[in-house]
Amino acid sequence: MDFKEIIANKISDVINIDANELKSYIEVPKDNANGDYSFPCFRLAKELRKSPVDIANLIKDGLNIDEIFEKVDVVSGFLNFYINKAIIVKSFFDKFNANENYGSTNMGKGKTVIVEYSSPNIAKPFHIGHLKNTVLGHALDNLYRFQGYNVISWNHLGDYGTQFAKLIEAYKRWGNEYDLNENPIKKLAEMYVRINQLCAEDESVLEESRETFKQLEDGNPEYVKLRDEFTKYSMIDFNKIYDLLGVKFDKIIGESFYIDKIPEMYEVLEKTGRMIESENAMIVDLTPEGIDTPCIVKKSNGASIYAARDLASILYRTSNFDFDKCLYVIGNEQALYFKQIFAIAKIMGIDKKYIDGLEFVGYGMLRLPEGKMSTRKGNFVEVEGLLEDAINRVKKVILEKDNLDGMDIEDVSKKVGLGAVVFSNLLDSRVKDSVFDVNSAISFQGDTGPYVQYMVVRTKSVLTKVNNDISKDIDFSILIDDSSLNLIKVLSNFEEVLRSALEKNEPSFISRYLLDVAKAFSVFYNNDKIICDDKKTQDARVYLTYVTNKVLNRGLNLLGIQVPDKM
Ligand code: ARG
Repeated sequence: MDFKEIIANKISDVINIDANELKSYIEVPKDNANGDYSFPCFRLAKELRKSPVDIANLIKDGLNIDEIFEKVDVVSGFLNFYINKAIIVKSFFDKFNANENYGSTNMGKGKTVIVEYSSPNIAKPFHIGHLKNTVLGHALDNLYRFQGYNVISWNHLGDYGTQFAKLIEAYKRWGNEYDLNENPIKKLAEMYVRINQLCAEDESVLEESRETFKQLEDGNPEYVKLRDEFTKYSMIDFNKIYDLLGVKFDKIIGESFYIDKIPEMYEVLEKTGRMIESENAMIVDLTPEGIDTPCIVKKSNGASIYAARDLASILYRTSNFDFDKCLYVIGNEQALYFKQIFAIAKIMGIDKKYIDGLEFVGYGMLRLPEGKMSTRKGNFVEVEGLLEDAINRVKKVILEKDNLDGMDIEDVSKKVGLGAVVFSNLLDSRVKDSVFDVNSAISFQGDTGPYVQYMVVRTKSVLTKVNNDISKDIDFSILIDDSSLNLIKVLSNFEEVLRSALEKNEPSFISRYLLDVAKAFSVFYNNDKIICDDKKTQDARVYLTYVTNKVLNRGLNLLGIQVPDKM
């Protein structure tokens, strides 16, 4: 039952204003002493030429108040609606029971979405920016799938660029000093740092790297072979992280894949007459599109650049995948760049359907308490180490517990440690910069993953106590006390929360919501004895516990978090 809609229709019957418009004004009061829903009359004052209080009274007098409402009050310019509690409860359980995958809709049916995420750079460490990216992309990947979209998860590996050529230069110089069979990324990273130092000291080395890059692009077999080796080694390390996080990609396609597709892209762009020469490079002036910064699409030595590969990849995607949306999960620092890329794609005459589907999903910088991490300077943090650290810290906490009976400590530590890292990365709105503090992330209390996981474990142990004997045939009127009703109200928002999380590509809506559910459950759990003497009461409360378990589990899984059996 959509109470907002019912209220809007009833008001519309009295004042003859479109119910959809009225529905959008309806609020949920913070304090439920002011009703379950509230309709502010201020917005209608101008149109109806009456004071808000007069409007409120006028509506109330004309309102058809049936058994759905306990009462309707006028308070200043507000109409406060109190819904019959048993009806709220029944309508929620009806909604829940009607959908095997409660929370899902069929909004994605028949639609395809490419979710590009993670996209680390070969031969460089997977740094914490990539961790945030991967966690965010994975959550979106899950969310779109859950809503019925055909999702293509896409890892746009950085296996090209001048930095890559630098590495080949380093390998040529010092390759025999490093055994790449052991800790390949660490060694490659060391070489990268070393060659960067040399480039900074000696301009000619930088120049040589540029030339190497050009040759790599032209397909110099020795260089191509080296790059493929680096890729192979790097993927071994990246896959360790993906396995830990449970991430799987449908496509892993490096930037180098587009090299032979770039000439065709230049051809299309050339024809538009918008590719012009500037200081020996080719650029697109985007002033007509309202973007002040021109975009360089070809370097002076003719070598392609990042932008060329992105443009070629858009062409490739549009001609091979009939997508409705193509999401780019990428750090905020590339926001302007992607504005440029999307604008050029439009200039190139790509079908409007695809252009409209291109979406930049930016995120703020993730910092560790020590400060910003940069690969180039060499003070990078290895993500695998960071994840292991979280797991080990959780293990220590768990080992201090009294009752470890039947607990798979490795499994629990892994799920909780990883859950803590993932949850803390998805807690704030994605565009905000954030600091990852492992100690607060793994805390079992506060706004953390472990806190939510702990609540799921609680629901599980209640269900185990009744041998998972869950009766659906319950007396709704038992659940109208404040803490049950509040939990039910929160649970009934799940669909809405998932819908807006998807619309805004904002998994933090889900994490915040799960905290609300967990807190509401905790109050219910402490106030109402679930296992009790009265069978009818117990059945009703057990069922509410069961529903909570489903919602929390599902929500965590969508974020990419697993739940242990005990903790
Ligand atoms: N590899 C890049 C990096 O690590 C991100 C790639 C983003 N995706 C793209 N289509 N340009 O910074």
